[in-house]
Amino acid sequence: MQKDVIIALDFPTVEETLEFLEKFGEEKLFVKIGMELYLQNGPIIIEKIKNLGHKIFLDLKLHDIPNTVYGATKGLAKFNVDILTVHAAGGFEMLKAAKQGMIDGGGKNTKVIAITQLTSTSEENMKKEQLVSVSLEENVRNYARLTKKAGLDGVVSSVWEVGLINEECGENFLKITPGIRLKNDRTEDQKRVATPRIANEKGSNYIVVGRSITKVSNPQKIYKFIKEQFANNNE
Ligand code: C5P
Repeated sequence: MQKDVIIALDFPTVEETLEFLEKFGEEKLFVKIGMELYLQNGPIIIEKIKNLGHKIFLDLKLHDIPNTVYGATKGLAKFNVDILTVHAAGGFEMLKAAKQGMIDGGGKNTKVIAITQLTSTSEENMKKEQLVSVSLEENVRNYARLTKKAGLDGVVSSVWEVGLINEECGENFLKITPGIRLKNDRTEDQKRVATPRIANEKGSNYIVVGRSITKVSNPQKIYKFIKEQFANNNE
């Protein structure tokens, strides 16, 4: 089973990002480049991080009409990142187009993954703001089913939906879970949070951790601790 801790590099500049990565010495990491970093710095950030030998989760959360998303993923294929995200809310045709674009662009090593409900969304907000009448779990289950049917490789959800996604889509469908907090952390804007240990017990393939690692004085130490918590053995 693929399993790792992905560090969310939510920084505004290339300099701050590289300065942060230096704290890990020669260690090879799996890192997330999201909209804050990518939109302000462009593809150069992918090149710089690749040159350091790290794996890349490009979290651009694409959400547009199928033709536009097709063009975007086809173009992004050349960066040969490990994972790229789109929003499941874009619908079945958009999801299919996202995957097809990646294939047509030659990105055979890039997994295309769909966001279900953001981990900053509570069930109450989803019902109130999106006028969704089913439970959050049912909503995530439906998005996961749709994503699988469209031929994508997995979904992003909170830890609390991993079980039902496994039920619906099988163990081989990738489950990526942000909203990770250590026991004494503040939740901040996240709503559906869990510890790395619970994520491990529930069967997440990858946990995405940002501020719990990036905002501490010794990131390498916390990263190591989180990795141990998210190990396969629950000693
Ligand atoms: O700092 P924190 O650990 O909350 O960061 C979580 C990261 O995961 C952020 O970069 C955020 O964009 C991302 N993410 C998320 N919820 C999703 C998908 C991605 O928090 N559903």
